[in-house]
Amino acid sequence: MSEPTKFLLREEQIPSHWVNLLPDLPGEPLPPLSPATGEPAGPDDLTPIFPMGLIAQEVSAEPEVEIPAEVREAYGLWRPTPLFRARRLEKALGTSARIYYKYEGGSPAGSHKPNTAVPQAYENAKAGVKKLSTETGAGQWGSSLAFACSLFGLDCEVFMVGSSYDQKPYRRSMMEAWGATVHRSPSDRTQSGRAQAEHPTGSLGIAISEAVEVAGQDPDCNYSLGSVLNHVLLHQTVIGQEAILQMELAGDEPDVIVGCVGGGSNFAGLAFPFMRAGSSARFVAAEPAACPTLTRGVYRYDFGDTAGLTPLMPMYTLGHDFVPPPVHAGGLRYHGDAPMLCGLVKAGRIEARAYRQNETFEAAVRFARSEGIIPAPEPAHAIRAVIDEVERGEANVILFGLCGHGHFDLAAYDAYLAGTLEDPEFSEADMEAALARLPEAPAIA
Ligand SMILES: Cc1ncc(COP(=O)(O)O)c(C=O)c1O
Repeated sequence: MSEPTKFLLREEQIPSHWVNLLPDLPGEPLPPLSPATGEPAGPDDLTPIFPMGLIAQEVSAEPEVEIPAEVREAYGLWRPTPLFRARRLEKALGTSARIYYKYEGGSPAGSHKPNTAVPQAYENAKAGVKKLSTETGAGQWGSSLAFACSLFGLDCEVFMVGSSYDQKPYRRSMMEAWGATVHRSPSDRTQSGRAQAEHPTGSLGIAISEAVEVAGQDPDCNYSLGSVLNHVLLHQTVIGQEAILQMELAGDEPDVIVGCVGGGSNFAGLAFPFMRAGSSARFVAAEPAACPTLTRGVYRYDFGDTAGLTPLMPMYTLGHDFVPPPVHAGGLRYHGDAPMLCGLVKAGRIEARAYRQNETFEAAVRFARSEGIIPAPEPAHAIRAVIDEVERGEANVILFGLCGHGHFDLAAYDAYLAGTLEDPEFSEADMEAALARLPEAPAIA
């Protein structure tokens, strides 16, 4: 046992602060815009659906934000998470590159999402809110919020994207076990859902509209988002801060850092602390070819949801009412991405690559057969990108985010193994039509 496989930290090494990359970003930050006036959105635009504690984090210009003691204590249920050296994968690939992965699948919900669900539930409970509404794609975010609400005595109502609801029935059971109520989206419970009845597979954008609508109409209910917003990316930086310490334990420094991107939170959580620390690594973001926001989208102001209820955000977008084909990586089926991450892609600090469904599952199975862990379909995109890096032969030390396990995604594995998994086509025409419906907003460079 002379060569360690896992690099572990003690509980007191759970970070005491989150890293806020906002002050480090190139250029002037582009503000979100109010959907009603087109003017920069201020805290007042957010108070109907978010508590002040989270709004303060959303707009904070401080380089670090302290983690409340109650949140840090709850993090102790699963953090610090392990960093693995993928020795068996290296061997299977026949590479001399050293590959590491930070594994977030050991959290109660099975992914990185509780890192932000817990502080969001905490701040809402502290503000006297009684209930949170949200959307979920893969079911990972809804499960995480259901878990976090159970810790702080909040009710939880989840709109689950139709295609995922059908593919992953046990995610619903999991949310219900933690006390949440789950609806298939588009539902007939909201105006936003009824207006999208002709898209029965649903999308994250539609489910967000439904959840925002519910929160906007109930004074005791706030809305909670699992990705994209600054405060969500902030909360996820516990991942990268731990990984920095663990890479030091391993005596290595990554020259490439890879993650999958749906809205950008696990990627930012791993990457931002390395950027803050001045890492010279290349950063590679992997997304689905069926929903290629960073590689094919336009950099414009757009709504975060389908119905146009959220502030306008500066980001790469396929158009807020673009409905991506129903790939199994439900958490990556989102038309936009986090403004902070998009700014870094635009500035050339992050490279983006898109992969098709079958090639990601091929990578996932290869990983499972060497490292043991069955990855969620979302981080399978990161694994595909890692294998690509190895095949290019330029990287010596690769670090990637394995942000969740795939135990609820076995129907997708079944289809892949049976040879019936499809590679749904991205429709350029649908994107062009959706882009033609982008809201009026100032152009961004
Ligand atoms: C396991 C997993 N990975 C990745 C994502 C994508 O989200 P993000 O880009 O915010 O990490 C999701 C979203 O639901 C997810 O469930």
